[in-house]
Amino acid sequence: MTLAWRHLPRTLRLETPSRRAPTTCPSLSVGPFWTSVTKLGLHTKPRMPPCDFTPEKYQSLPYRRVLEIYQQHLSPMQTAYFPQPLLLHQGHMEWLFDHEGNRYLDFFSGIVTISVGHCHPKVNAAAGKQLGRLWHTSAVFFHPQIHEYAEKLSALLPEPLKVIFLTNSGSEANDLAMLMARAHSKNTHIISFRGAYHGSSPHTHDLSNVGPFKMTLPGGVGCQSVSFEIFFVLFL
Ligand SMILES: Cc1ncc(COP(=O)(O)O)c(C=O)c1O
Repeated sequence: MTLAWRHLPRTLRLETPSRRAPTTCPSLSVGPFWTSVTKLGLHTKPRMPPCDFTPEKYQSLPYRRVLEIYQQHLSPMQTAYFPQPLLLHQGHMEWLFDHEGNRYLDFFSGIVTISVGHCHPKVNAAAGKQLGRLWHTSAVFFHPQIHEYAEKLSALLPEPLKVIFLTNSGSEANDLAMLMARAHSKNTHIISFRGAYHGSSPHTHDLSNVGPFKMTLPGGVGCQSVSFEIFFVLFL
């Protein structure tokens, strides 16, 4: 097992026993404090926990071709945050595997909205069953799985949070949150932190203030970004 070190910023890299270990942990080797801790031998090197899952062999496009297609046919808005983004191939619970078979411990275990573990067998089984039965109709019809889910989910929530509105994405969920906040408060203005990402729908886009998501176009009504400092001065 190796890690593709070149893909990750320094602080995210983990050392593995199979790699020739540097004398100090990269993320702990800077500054006088860490130097003294290192000298005392008190720091611990991060180690990858074992994993008994073996990924399939990657047999799709080579990295170079993926990069070409990305540059020619995919919107640059679908940002690659890293100079050489990982080419992920397979996931298993908390693990991700890239095209070279390198293993990564994913502390999200899936992105925020579905952080139940990659390809969780229970979710796979339920999704497979449903795909064989009915894919998609319209919200104008009843569909019992939605009702079962709404009942189970609402049972976990306190009063008065007993009404479920299902959306397809985080952007739509945030759109809805903005709409509800405005409808409830009768106010229009919403602030977000600089550097924040809240989605790519027209409304959430105006709340997002990071990288290519911030454009010099007239934004939506009432969205204002502030720094953490200003937020604390204004509201705390
Ligand atoms: C904090 C946050 N908000 C909103 C979103 C938007 O979610 P989606 O891509 O499902 O629209 C994301 C997606 O990464 C996110 O990380």
